[in-house]
Parts: sequence; structure tokens; C-alpha cells
Amino acid sequence: MSIAQNTETAAKLRCIACGATPDSAGQNFRCAACGDLLEFFFPGWTADSPVFEPAALKALWLKRRTSRDALDQSGVWRFRELLPHIPNLEEYAITLREGNTPLYRLPRCARAAAVENLHAKHQGMNPTASFKDTGMTFAASSAHQGKFRWVACASTGNTSASMAAYAARGNMHSLVLIPEGKISWGKLSQALDYGALTCQLRTDFDGCVRILSDLVRQKPVCLLNSVNPYRIEGQKTAAIELLEQLAWEPPDHIIVPGGNLGNSSAIGKALVEMRELKLISRLPKLSIIQAQGANPFYRCVREFGGKKLDPMTADTLATAIRIGNPASWKKALRVLKATGGEVEQVTELEIAVAKAEIGADGIGCEPASAVTLAGLKKLRRSGFVKPGESVVLILTGHALKDPDFTIKFHRGDLFDGTSDAGTPGAGTPDEAEAAQAKCLQRAPVVLEADLRAVIGALDAAERNS
Ligand code: F0G
Repeated sequence: MSIAQNTETAAKLRCIACGATPDSAGQNFRCAACGDLLEFFFPGWTADSPVFEPAALKALWLKRRTSRDALDQSGVWRFRELLPHIPNLEEYAITLREGNTPLYRLPRCARAAAVENLHAKHQGMNPTASFKDTGMTFAASSAHQGKFRWVACASTGNTSASMAAYAARGNMHSLVLIPEGKISWGKLSQALDYGALTCQLRTDFDGCVRILSDLVRQKPVCLLNSVNPYRIEGQKTAAIELLEQLAWEPPDHIIVPGGNLGNSSAIGKALVEMRELKLISRLPKLSIIQAQGANPFYRCVREFGGKKLDPMTADTLATAIRIGNPASWKKALRVLKATGGEVEQVTELEIAVAKAEIGADGIGCEPASAVTLAGLKKLRRSGFVKPGESVVLILTGHALKDPDFTIKFHRGDLFDGTSDAGTPGAGTPDEAEAAQAKCLQRAPVVLEADLRAVIGALDAAERNS
């Protein structure tokens, strides 16, 4: 079996706005001419002269699943033919066997959303429990190959956890900038454990990004946020793996949460490239869901027709997507147009209810991931998704990332006190939604250590079920 390698897969950088094709990227991964984002493209992949034989590629990727080689065992590097080439890979690749995440059927959520065929690809089942690992293995390896001593990111928590782990595995130091008090303990604890220099700044995520952008101009650190195009390339593999799991039969819809918009850009890029290479015959519609209190992309599309993005001060209990000035909005917009997807926004209570429903299916996820189900319900109501169409939700983070949110929801005090959800942008719970939330709440029952008390609780639960 012959699989084309280097020359055909030689990737080049290109500016998404002015089309400049620099030989290398600067410290901030922005175009030196116009300041916009860079992306990788593959000049050898032309429609009239296919470089890969689709069936041979699919067979090779499948065969690697039984390999003992670490890179073959990774759900990212297994698909390396569709990624830029990194020189001396054997020496520099850092892998935790990321990817390889399960695709689950969600029967209860399907009923709640009134669709027949609903799956979740659970990217929270990655080594550091979020989708970030798929991009991080690739970007951290490129930093390693570039002999960087330090890597750095601004983060709402998951990027920092992932970066710290991969940096540690590659013997690099990591610098993390996070908003003080606005990331979950689960994520913060990971960064500390993996040895990062963790700076909690008295600002929000967007403020952390601004400081980091200035820092990389002065210090030789490698920026590992998703403006780094290597991150996007690695994150493409979630879509490739998904299609492989579906025997290369595309679903009608894929739904992703939108924060900084790197993930939607990556999944969309992979879909377009897979069609270009004839690995799939049609494109699923990729839709992006934001929290109502952190909805700059929703407003960009719905209010400004995609012409501009108006940065905002973001506020949501789904802290992972508490982002007001998303870096990759132009890339995400392109994906929306290419696939015919939609953008939606959901309230805090809709997110909480959807998260509990995903939990009740025995799966669970962190709050930001649950916007996908909440968004699907809206897209069903608007008629954009039809009952018979197949839908895949991308769950981006593990339930244990933010147990605080979960416990507050089940105790019924998620929206009490100083909660951000009381702010106007976050939406006020209406009565029907609140009743739905009540049905899903499973607060712990505190009892005397007495058999009769436990039997009483069991009988009461049975009567109410
Ligand atoms: N879901 C989770 C669990 C996330 O952590 C993030 C982003 C997103 C969704 C949104 O993805 O930014 O690619 O649109 N978290 C980043 C972080 C920003 O720093 O961990 P996006």
C-alpha cells in the first residue's frame, strides 16, 4: 500500500485575511503584513490530482489501531497524513495517547430534544479530560521541536491543564495566565499538579490574552493558545475520528460549543478537507452554540451579518466559554458558511437542564459542553434540525472538571446569591424551565444511620419514579 508522504502533505502557512504565505510564523502567530490569523493549507491537495487514495488511507488508519507504536496509538497522530509534517517526529513528538474518544448514543437526551438519532462524541475522555489534548499534543510537539524552553497560554482552565501536562511530558516549562476566581478548581488543580507557573490575574480571559500577547513579544516563549495553527491542526482529528466511527457516513448535523472558536474552526476545516480528499461525500452542517451571557459570535452573525465582531464583557456560569472577544471568529464564520450551519445562544438555566439530562443518560459533561444539547433543542424548535436527521454533539469536557456547578444544581442553589446568572445578559429563568430543572435535581438525602430510614427513602424514590 503506498501512501503519499512529505511532498504531498507539505503544509504552508497562509493568512486568512490577506492571503500572504509566510515561510514561518512569528511569536504571536499573526500575519506580519495585516495582523490577522494564520492557517495551514496543503498546496498539493488539488481537486483534479488526488494525492491520497481514500480507501488506502482509511485502511492504514484502521490498521494503526492495533499497533504497539506510541504515535499509532494516539488518536491524533494516527491520522498524521492529514497534518503538517513535523521534522524528527520520533525525537520530538509528545503524546499521552490522546483522542480515541468514545461515540455514545444518547437516548434520553434524544427524547428531550425530539430527535431520533442523537450521539455524543465525548472529547472529555481525553487524558486531561478535555478536547484540548488533541490540539496540544501537536502544538506542544512543534514547540519541542523548535527547542522552546517555555510554553505559555491564557486560559479559562482546560487549555492550561492540557498545556501543563504536555509541557511536563516534553520537559518544557509552562506559564499559565488564568482569570482569578473564574475557573473551576478541577482545572486549576491540574495545572498546579503538572507543575505550571500559574498566574491568576485580576481580569477576565480576554484580559489574560492581552497580557500574553504583549509578553510573547518580549520573551522567548511559545504561545500555545488556539491562534497557534498547530493547535487547530491537531484538533481536526476529532472530526476525522468521528467520521471513522460512523463508517465514513456523515451525520446531518454536528453541534459544538463556541468560546474562543478554535474548536469549531478545526472541526470545520477537517470536514472541508475530508470532502476535498473524497474521504466523505458530503458535509454535515456544523452549528455553533454560545451562552447568552457570552455571545459575541451569535451577535456577529445574527446582528451584524458576519461583518464585524463586537467584543463584550462575558458572563456565564459555564466558565470555559466565558469569552467576550474570540480570536478565531473569522475562521468560524467561514466554517458556518461552508457547511451551512447555524449559530444559537442558550440561557444559564437551559445549560443547567441540558447538563443534567446528559448526566441522566449516564454520560455527563462540564457545563460548557452542555450548550450543545440546549442549542439542539432550540434548533429543533426553529425547524433547522428535522426530527429524522442524525445529530452528533461534541462534548468538550468531563463532568468532573466542574463538580461545584453540578452539586449546586442538584441542591437547587445554582442561581442563588452572588451567582453571575442573575445578570441581565445571562437570562432570567422562566417558570417552565425552572420546573424542568426541579424534575432533574437529585439532592443528597441526609438520614440517620438507620435501616428503616434508608428503606423509607428507597420507597419514596420508587413512588416518585
Ligand atoms: N468547551 C470547553 C470545555 C472549553 O474548555 C472551551 C474552551 C470550549 C468549549 C470552547 O472552545 O474556545 O475552541 O471555542 N476553553 C478554552 C480554555 C478557551 O482556555 O480552556 P473554543
